[in-house]
Amino acid sequence: MSDPTRKRVLLGVTGGIAAYKSPDLVRRLIERGADVQVAMTASAQKFVTPMTFQAVSSRPARTDLWDAAAEAAMGHIELARWAELILVAPASASFLARLAHGRADDLLSTLCLASEAPLAVAPAMNRLMWANPATQANVTLLRSRGIRVLGPATGDQACGETGPGRMLEPLQLAEEAFSLLRSSAALIGVRVLITAGPTREHIDPVRFIGNRSSGKMGFAVARAARAAGAQVMLVSGPVALDTPPGVRRINVETAEQMHAAVREELSGAQIFIAAAAVADYRPSAPASQKIKKTGVAMDMRLEPVPDILASVSADQRRPRLVVGFAAETERMEEHARQKLEGKHLDMIVANKVGGQLGFDADDNALLLLWPGGSRRIERGAKLAIAHELMAAVAERFHEQEREGAGRPANKRTGKERRKARG
Ligand code: C5P
Repeated sequence: MSDPTRKRVLLGVTGGIAAYKSPDLVRRLIERGADVQVAMTASAQKFVTPMTFQAVSSRPARTDLWDAAAEAAMGHIELARWAELILVAPASASFLARLAHGRADDLLSTLCLASEAPLAVAPAMNRLMWANPATQANVTLLRSRGIRVLGPATGDQACGETGPGRMLEPLQLAEEAFSLLRSSAALIGVRVLITAGPTREHIDPVRFIGNRSSGKMGFAVARAARAAGAQVMLVSGPVALDTPPGVRRINVETAEQMHAAVREELSGAQIFIAAAAVADYRPSAPASQKIKKTGVAMDMRLEPVPDILASVSADQRRPRLVVGFAAETERMEEHARQKLEGKHLDMIVANKVGGQLGFDADDNALLLLWPGGSRRIERGAKLAIAHELMAAVAERFHEQEREGAGRPANKRTGKERRKARG
């Protein structure tokens, strides 16, 4: 009978010399409170035997998709559902390639495809195999799908070379696994409303004022919030991105429409995150027909659009946590602090735009500011840093919840709200 307080970790072991460390990883996971089921590929068994894993995990290691007796005890789909986390350590170059391309040609790759549990891989291979563009492309693809890539570390390798490609040590992997298990449950059932992408403000039926936002950061935040267990509603301007799995989405074009959609969805939202790059101004009098080119200069009068974030923060139905973004080209921290205070936010996420970061880029680096605190998130893929951002958001959310002592934020007095903000 399994203990419901223990975490259920499926440990995949693939063929690499680092597999000799995996039995130790099993022990470290068990020590921290996990039940571990091992699934090995055929090549993994050239390095370590299933018996070794059976001895340390007290469960027969699974090795074969076609093992009738094992399937009768717990079928592979059942096993995929059983897992609260899948960790593949070591993950060989070949396994990463198969995972990236959705192959289900053995038990472990099938389990990875058939599970909704968070999936983490700990690559281990020769440094040149790791550096190979094919491996790097596979890793980028896996990261973009929300798979966590732990390591590799740099150092001496079994092949006698030195460089990146070593598997992280079992102790570190066990810590990472538990931090993932914690973050994947951090916002279970919490309702999160997110805006993302640019808005378009019409000049005439064919022209608009907009900006360079791709929506990638906001979509990564939506994906990370979903991965943390939240119910996510995403209000998106025009972008060329797929809706993250499990996320509900409303498409809008203008700031006015985005504002209306947010107002519609605000009741019941417990966290609001404004990641959209709203066009700040719109033409005061958009033309109903295409404006003819005359060859001479023209003036256009612009008026400000509603500030969605500020209006949510001032709303009677204010969610418990209101988070804004500040994309800045200079004096980032100072400008971000001004926005944090000016719009009465619980957190602001500042990022530098221009160069290779920010708008339309795949990477970002963030500075989180809140009343009385700050945290830097170092440069990384937008999805990876979105996970870190959501972990910080979840922490602040639960802190606010404790401070609010059961009273919804929108029912607190101004004094209580200021006190809660520190
Ligand atoms: O004041 P500024 O536009 O720089 O603030 C940026 C933050 O405010 C972002 O979180 C953005 O999504 C939000 N915002 C908004 N509505 C606007 C302008 C900005 O929600 N009209």
